[in-house]
Amino acid sequence: MTADIEIRNVSKQFGAMMVLDHLSLSIRAREFIVFLGPSGCGKSTLLRMIAGLEAVDSGEIAINNERIDHLPPGKRGIAMVFQSYALYPHMTVRDNMAFGLANIGVPGKVIEARINEAARILEMPHLLDRKPGQLSGGQRQRVAIGRAIVKEPKAFLFDEPLSNLDAALRTRTRIELAQLHQRLQSTMIFVTHDQVEAMTLADRIVVMNNRKIDQIGTPMEIYERPATKFVAGFVGAPAMNFVDATLDRSGENATARFADGVSVQTEIASSQLTDGNYTFGIRSEDVRIVAAGQGNADGVVDVLERLGERTLIYARLGDGQQIVGSDSGNSRVAVGDRIGLAFDGQKSHLFNETGRAWHAREA
Ligand SMILES: Nc1ncnc2c1ncn2[C@@H]1O[C@H](COP(=O)(O)OP(=O)(O)OP(=O)(O)O)[C@@H](O)[C@H]1O
Ligand SMILES: [Mg+2]
Repeated sequence: MTADIEIRNVSKQFGAMMVLDHLSLSIRAREFIVFLGPSGCGKSTLLRMIAGLEAVDSGEIAINNERIDHLPPGKRGIAMVFQSYALYPHMTVRDNMAFGLANIGVPGKVIEARINEAARILEMPHLLDRKPGQLSGGQRQRVAIGRAIVKEPKAFLFDEPLSNLDAALRTRTRIELAQLHQRLQSTMIFVTHDQVEAMTLADRIVVMNNRKIDQIGTPMEIYERPATKFVAGFVGAPAMNFVDATLDRSGENATARFADGVSVQTEIASSQLTDGNYTFGIRSEDVRIVAAGQGNADGVVDVLERLGERTLIYARLGDGQQIVGSDSGNSRVAVGDRIGLAFDGQKSHLFNETGRAWHAREA
């Protein structure tokens, strides 16, 4: 079973505080959608509104073309998995999974078959007779997911389900979730503030910021062509470099000039831009380390971060501005060295004062 989900002009206020301001979003059947944004931006609130755990102030939510925003949670055909697992401690895993089903009158034989199937999918048949207290965090998380599977929902909603797991288990469970989505072919909405989770799991990411949706796109659209400066800075680690710039628009493509005379020839059409102050943006992997005098700018190395496959070089320009560039894993660069920084014009971005973004023409 699967569902498309339509969110139209939905708003939410808590007291005097506007949390979500006229959001619209179409989720296609079988899509894996991730809501990504900083703490407090309203991700859980939006998810809880879809689940029916929070009322909608205005606007509509429809599943398969039927309005559901007035229905109680149990009638929406949706299953939600929480960060806190929310298992009943005195019940076995089997009974935890059966619990909701018996209540809505699913026959015992059907319940048993669904539990066995979910346990098989999640590789946990050996855990069915244990109680939550006898399970690890990762195993509890699996039970919580199993409890959602046995409901055979039209859509799964996950609210930061991995955040209580340690780093290794988190990565493993992330991959299991991706496999689960392939197997079940259900619509899934996953909330996180972790951009790596968003990038690795999503068919499309919804980036939320300041009561609004800043961008909806595939992970690579979001990464390569962020719609706003906020998205550009939020997605990607280390964060995109930003430098204040003025533009020379006399050529076909704009040239960005920084305060101390550094200039970068972008591949962004001058005709799209207007006069005014801009921020120039570039990711660390698009800033190569070259010999001093050979790049767009010279800098002095502040810090090295060795990541194994590459080395991040934090360099300070003449005006004190820090830029992060990227060198090979076995980089010979040392702290205090004077180096050149070569910016890739094709990978350069510009942002105006409202945060709107421009990128190179598509290749
Ligand atoms: N029941 C409530 N009453 C009043 N304010 C609330 C309530 N629930 C949430 N809020 C507020 O609404 C805003 C959005 O909260 P929400 O939980 O949706 O954020 P979030 O994006 O999920 O954040 P996090 O990543 O920290 O979980 C926050 O400012 C929060 O304090
Ligand atoms: Mg939340």
